[in-house]
Amino acid sequence: MSASLATKPVAALDPEEAALELERLAFEIAEHDRRYYQEDAPTVSDAEYDALRQRNLEIEARFPELAREDSPSHRVGAAPSATFSEVVHAVPMLSLDNAFSDEDVGDFVGRVRRFLKLSDGEPVAFTAEPKIDGLSLSLRYENRRLVTAATRGDGTTGENVTANARTIADIPKSLPPGAPEIVEVRGEVYMSHADFAALNTRMEAEEGRVFANPRNAAAGSLRQLDAAVTASRPLKFFAYAWGQMSEVPGETQMAVVEAFRDWGFATNPLMRLCAGAEEMIAVYREIEAQRATLGYDIDGVVYKVDDLGLQRRLGFVSRSPRWAIAHKFPAEQATTIVRDIDIQVGRTGALTPVAKLEPVTVGGVVVSNATLHNEDYVAGIGADGAPIREGKDIRVGDTVTVQRAGDVIPQIVDVDLSRRPANAAPFESRTTCPVCGSHAVREVNEKTGRKDAVRRCTGGLVCPAQAVERLKHFVSRNALDIEGLGSKQIEAFFTDGLIRRPADIFTLAEQDRTSLKKLKDREGWGAKSVQNLFAAIEERRDVALNRFVFGLGIRHVGETTAKVLARHYGTMEDLRAGALAARDRDGEAYAELIDIDGIGETVADALIEFFAEAHNEEELDRLLAEVRPASMAALEASGSPVAGKTVVFTGSLERMTRDEAKAMAERFGAKVAGSVSKKTDLVVAGPGAGSKLKKAEEFGVEVIDEDAWFELVGEG
Ligand code: IVH
Repeated sequence: MSASLATKPVAALDPEEAALELERLAFEIAEHDRRYYQEDAPTVSDAEYDALRQRNLEIEARFPELAREDSPSHRVGAAPSATFSEVVHAVPMLSLDNAFSDEDVGDFVGRVRRFLKLSDGEPVAFTAEPKIDGLSLSLRYENRRLVTAATRGDGTTGENVTANARTIADIPKSLPPGAPEIVEVRGEVYMSHADFAALNTRMEAEEGRVFANPRNAAAGSLRQLDAAVTASRPLKFFAYAWGQMSEVPGETQMAVVEAFRDWGFATNPLMRLCAGAEEMIAVYREIEAQRATLGYDIDGVVYKVDDLGLQRRLGFVSRSPRWAIAHKFPAEQATTIVRDIDIQVGRTGALTPVAKLEPVTVGGVVVSNATLHNEDYVAGIGADGAPIREGKDIRVGDTVTVQRAGDVIPQIVDVDLSRRPANAAPFESRTTCPVCGSHAVREVNEKTGRKDAVRRCTGGLVCPAQAVERLKHFVSRNALDIEGLGSKQIEAFFTDGLIRRPADIFTLAEQDRTSLKKLKDREGWGAKSVQNLFAAIEERRDVALNRFVFGLGIRHVGETTAKVLARHYGTMEDLRAGALAARDRDGEAYAELIDIDGIGETVADALIEFFAEAHNEEELDRLLAEVRPASMAALEASGSPVAGKTVVFTGSLERMTRDEAKAMAERFGAKVAGSVSKKTDLVVAGPGAGSKLKKAEEFGVEVIDEDAWFELVGEG
C-alpha cells in the first residue's frame, strides 16, 4: 500500500486504485474490529476508525460495482472469539450510522422525511438518549426466564456470556407475569467511573495491571471465562433496544423502553422525545453539558424515529437502520495548567518541546504530558504555516484545553487567554542543546527555501542525549533486537560508561571479564541475568542486513527503506561502496541508487551524508569487526525450515508479541506478510483468528498454531 493512495481524495481515485483501497480498508477495518471486539485493546481512536469506514462507504458509493464481498459495510464488529460458545442472533445486532455536526442531524431528519414522503406540515417525532460507551448485549427471555445473553460478535453470531450476565444486578433473571413469551432485550453493559477507579486500584495491587478506560474494563469483565470473576466486577446495564419479540409492548420507541423499565430493567433517565432537528440538537447540548457529571462514559447522543410503524417502513441499509443515527461528541477534552515546557533530544538531534501538565483525567485516562512538536507549534503556527489555536501561543502557567482522541498522544487544542498569568513569558526557543550545549539550529530547506520546523542539536557524536537515543534505536525490536537490553539498561550502561557506542555492546562480556566491578553485582542484575544478556548479544552477531542497516539510524532510512537497500545491495560492503561512490551525482553509482524503487533524493542524500562522515565510517568498521550482517540470500540458504517462505501471523499470540513474532520469523529467513494470498506459504494462527484463517483454508495454505511454530523453527 502506498501512503499517498490512502490519502488520495475519493473523487480522484481511478477504478484500479479504488479496488486497491477497498481491499486495504477491508483488511484494516477487520483488524481494528478484531482488536476492539476480541482483544478489548483498540489501537486507533473512534474518530480514525469512523474515518476509515466513511472512506470505504464513499468509495463504494462511487464504484458500487467494486464493493467487495467481505466489505466492512456488510458487517458489524468482529467474528466472535473462539473461547465462548456461539449464539446466532434471532435478529441481527446492527450498528448505527454517525452524525458529527448539527448539519448532519438536519440531513438525517431530511432523509427520514423524504423517505417517508412526509409533507411539510406532517410531524415526525424522534427520541434522543445518551450513547453509552460500553458493549452491547442481547438478553433472550423465554417464558419470562432469562435463557441466553449474547455479545454482538459480528452482528450475526455473538458469544454466549449467559452465566456472566446473570451476575449483573441491573439484569433481571425473570420477567413479570404480563411480559410476552419471547423477549429479546438489548442494551449496553458499562462500568461507572467510581467503580472503574476502585477496580483499577484493586487490580493494580493484586495483578499489577490496570484497564485503560471503563469501556475496556466492562468488556474485559464481561468476557471472562469464569463467571465468578465477572461477579466480582461492578457491571451495569441500560436497556434501549430489542431483537425478537413475540409481542411488542408498545407502538413507539418510548413506550417500549417504558415497558422495559416496568419489567425491571434500568433505562436511561435522560431519554427525551423531540419534534425535529432543532429540539434534538438542544437535547444533545443538554446531555453534552452533563457529560462530565453523569458518572459514566457516553460518546454521543442516539436519535431514533419514535413511531415503530415508521421504523418498519424505513428499514435498514446494510449494517444500520435508516431510522436511527448516533450524533458523536467531539474528542474528549479537559482543562488543565501547563506547569513547565521541557525539551527532549531525539536520536537525530531534534529538540522536541513537551508540555508538563498538572495531571488531569481526560476520558478516564490521566494525562500529564502533551507533545508540542516544535517551536512553531508552541507559537501557534501549524505545519503548513497557517495559524493553529487561532494563533494563540502556549506559555508556562497557561490554562489550556487538552484533547485526547482514542489512544493518540494528547494535544493542546486551545489556550484560555483570559486566565493567563500577568507574568507568563512567551516560550523562548533555545539556540543550544539542553544536554550537550552545542548549537541548536533550524536548517533552511534547500528545496523549499523555508526554515525547517524542527530545531536540531548540532552536537552529533558529542551529544550524550543523541548517543543514548541512537543506542536505544540500535538495540530496539525492529533493529538488532537484543533481549534484556532495553531503554532502561542502555541508559544505565551509558551513564556508567560501559556502553558508549554500538560496538561496545559486543565487547561488554570481554570488558566484564577483566573488570573488578562486575555486571552481576549491579542492582537489578544477577549472575543468571548477566549470562542471559551475554548470550542474547552473542546471538545477534549474525544479524539480517536490513535490521543492521535500520539500526544504524541513518536519517530517513526506516524499516522499509532499510529492507529495500539490503535487498538491492546484498551486503554491507556493497551498500557502503555504492553510497560512497554516489557522492559524484553525475556518476553511475548515484544513478543506480536513485533508480531503486522506493529510494528518492532525500534518502540518497541522507545515505551519502552518512557515509561521508569519517566518524560514521570508523564506527561502522568497529561494528563490522564484531557483527556479521548477513544478506537475505545467505539467510535463505541457511537451511532454516522457513527460509524464503512467506508467513502470516493471525489471531492472538500468547508466547510472543506481534513484533517479536515478526522479528523471529525474519531471523529465520522468512518474509512476514500482513494478509493471506495464494503466495502465502504458512499461516500461524492463534485464538480468535478470523478472516485470514478462513482465507488460508480457502487457498489451501498450511495453518499451524503458535506452539507448532516454535517447534518448527527449533525453539520449541
Ligand atoms: S440503538 C439498531 N441506543 O452503539 C440499533 N445503541 O454504534 C441499535 N449504543 O451497537 C442500537 N448506546 O452498542 C442504541 N442508546 C443507545 C446506545 C447504543 C450505545 C451502542 C450499541 C450499538 C452501537 C452503535
